[in-house]
Amino acid sequence: METLCVVGTGYVGLSTGACFADLGNRVFCLDIDEEKIANIRQGIMPIYEPGLKELVERNIHAGRLFFTSDYSEALKDSRYAFIAVGTPSGVDGEADLQYVRQVAEMIADTVNHQLIVINKSTVPVGTGDWVAEIINKRREGSPLAFSVVSNPEFLREGSAITDFMSPDRVVLGSEDRQAANQVAQLYLSLRCPIIITNLRTAEMIKYASNAFLATRISFINEIANICEELGADVREVSRGMGADKRIGNAFLDAGLGWGGSCFPKDVKALAHMAVLHGTQPQLLQAVMDINRNQRRRVVMRLRKELGSFQDKVVGILGLSFKPNTDDTREAPAVELIHLMQNEGAMIRAYDPQAMEVASRHLPRVQMCSDPYQVAEGADALVLVTEWNEFKNLDFEKLLQVMRKPVIFDGRNLWEPERIRSSGFTYLGIGRGTSI
Ligand code: UDX
Ligand code: UDX
Repeated sequence: METLCVVGTGYVGLSTGACFADLGNRVFCLDIDEEKIANIRQGIMPIYEPGLKELVERNIHAGRLFFTSDYSEALKDSRYAFIAVGTPSGVDGEADLQYVRQVAEMIADTVNHQLIVINKSTVPVGTGDWVAEIINKRREGSPLAFSVVSNPEFLREGSAITDFMSPDRVVLGSEDRQAANQVAQLYLSLRCPIIITNLRTAEMIKYASNAFLATRISFINEIANICEELGADVREVSRGMGADKRIGNAFLDAGLGWGGSCFPKDVKALAHMAVLHGTQPQLLQAVMDINRNQRRRVVMRLRKELGSFQDKVVGILGLSFKPNTDDTREAPAVELIHLMQNEGAMIRAYDPQAMEVASRHLPRVQMCSDPYQVAEGADALVLVTEWNEFKNLDFEKLLQVMRKPVIFDGRNLWEPERIRSSGFTYLGIGRGTSI
């Protein structure tokens, strides 16, 4: 049993801290947002993540998990300090590291015992060295015995706990091999491959992994767009491709493309690092372009179907960037809604979890209580996020309440014939329906 601190109780930090506590460690989760800390202590989670509330409550009750905004309380007995604060995109796509700097400085100002500082946040290659420089500079007068380890997260929102407890691998990078080995001890009970390398390589593994997953998605979306014109069904193409062990089925679902707080910022940040160091990220640029165009293609095809968006009512099913989360950061729904509103459309929407979060930046959207209310008087219904509860809707009932029978299946959730036989015009992504 170790005592450790996780700084940042966001999507990554809170799941990480609660899971480490569940493995038997004593964990202090720190956040500068005191209201967030107070809420978590009362069992009010700052995010929707399946299973997280129960995990947090169980470990608070067991006396292993603590929440504070006080750095000295969080660090006084901790031998490990995980940095899991936001690293949002800057204006040119570079990662904004102001919060990482803030935390590194606070750690330097607070700690007077040997410590291992672990970068859990996704940070540009070379940030580990930069964090060490900040701490050393801050402690010029009284040097601190510490090491820096990169330990990138591979948690998917909506399955963060499972991804933590059953990882495909743990990646650790450090110039201090012993420090990396000590951090590895925290993960031993997960019985998974632990890859130990140097700082920069570990940081690059994270970016390269996310960029590759994003590339797969943009690849299948490009194939879908070609299928649309050639009369092939991309869902079957994916299935036929994925049976090849070298390809696999994961991350080969065509749709509205990727969003969220990671892929968009990580692909942009990697491309920015490349350009900054004199190499042209041609493939990464194409991956981003294809992804951006996916939303625009939907608007173009819907505009063609409806004639124009002026005074039309469009229903949106799903606002979160993917199912099982309330996160709407870079969500395709937000971009789609803005594009259609700019052409005079009135938007109605429903999402099982994300409406409260989404309404903060979608003030002109009529939030509804279920998919049928969304469809009332609608000229088109767009499936944006493939929540399970959308899988078996009563299409006859939808037809009765809609003004025009147009359905755009943005995630290829439904069977085209099933929808058409209910009397709808069905538009999908790469379902060959243009033929
Ligand atoms: C973040 C990064 O965005 C992601 O790239 C990285 O892989 C993991 O950390 P996320 O958990 O989504 O992901 O961040 P966010 O939801 O923004 O939460 C960050 C938390 O850190 C916030 O609660 C914020 O209040 C807190 N914070 C920020 C601090 O506690 N101290 C600070 O100095 C700054
Ligand atoms: C991702 C990585 O999977 C995770 O390893 C990393 O730590 C953080 O970023 P996340 O962003 O939470 O996780 O969600 P993910 O499930 O990867 O989906 C990302 C986006 O890709 C979503 O918008 C999703 O809708 C989209 N997607 C995913 C597709 O469009 N097609 C697919 O086949 C899979």
